[in-house]
Amino acid sequence: MTPDRPFVIVTRRLPDAVEAALAASFDVRLNPSDRQYTAAELRTALSEADAVLCTLTDPLDAMVLGPGPWRARLLANFGVGTNHIDLAAARTAGLAVTNTPGVLTDCTADLAIALMLMVLRRLDEGSRQLRAGAWPGWHPVHLLGRRLTGRTLGVVGFGRIGQAVAHRAHHGFGMQILTVARPTLDAAALARVAGEAVEGLDELLERSDIASLHVPLTPGTRHLMDARRLALLGPKGVLVNTARGEVVDEAALAEALHAGALGGAGLDVFEREPLVHPRLLTAPSAVLLPHQGSATVETRTAMGMKAVENLRAFSRGEPLPDRVA
Ligand code: GLV
Repeated sequence: MTPDRPFVIVTRRLPDAVEAALAASFDVRLNPSDRQYTAAELRTALSEADAVLCTLTDPLDAMVLGPGPWRARLLANFGVGTNHIDLAAARTAGLAVTNTPGVLTDCTADLAIALMLMVLRRLDEGSRQLRAGAWPGWHPVHLLGRRLTGRTLGVVGFGRIGQAVAHRAHHGFGMQILTVARPTLDAAALARVAGEAVEGLDELLERSDIASLHVPLTPGTRHLMDARRLALLGPKGVLVNTARGEVVDEAALAEALHAGALGGAGLDVFEREPLVHPRLLTAPSAVLLPHQGSATVETRTAMGMKAVENLRAFSRGEPLPDRVA
């Protein structure tokens, strides 16, 4: 039986409106200092709370999740990606898992487009030059980049976010859209962006000016972009990653950029956040952002409210709207 007013432990600071909504509906332990929970603290939280509102910075692996016994029955994740949670171990431990799909699609897609523009138009370089007092003044061949409009975009992962990126790229920038054919491909969504489904990822990379990653991190997508595939994108190709850092072999990416085997990269996510491979920090044509994909007041609030909805359904014993395990 779920208590009427469950005790919810929240592992990170959340937008004020979300914390207020949580306090109104639940007995809640917030984290005003925002210090990350250790594995031992996560285990204590699972034994004390009815539900834990967690984030991608909480590694809820098999070591943390088992063996209990746990009081908690729900992990309400703030975020869409659940690769930091061992879903099988959660099931074994009797924990349901929910996420927050849909509400972060637009902001993440916006950021992917921003990264394409930053890399192709050399915007980060320009901004840094100006602030360093090194702007020589306007001249006809100053910081010439490449135009985004009309280029070919390979969308790797044609789910909600991939489709939103394709929509912006095609309807906003007249880009040609490619994605990889698969049985579950949303053909209607691809038709709306006049896109083409190609045989495999290798062909997509060979034919794209820019490849943008929108796959979840799974054992099958880990290091999907390795040295060989980066080389297929080629010396003029640009890789954009707003998905998960581990989808790319970061060391191979840094080497490809330094060697000129890849034209550029726009990265919002990294393999060992907040650490960034030192060779990437010095890589030419790399734009690096600190995981800002969903970082707007509107989106982070909507994500929190989705977690609250799942917690409310849990407290009423109703089906969980965004259950992933
Ligand atoms: C953010 O990266 C998320 O998974 O929601």
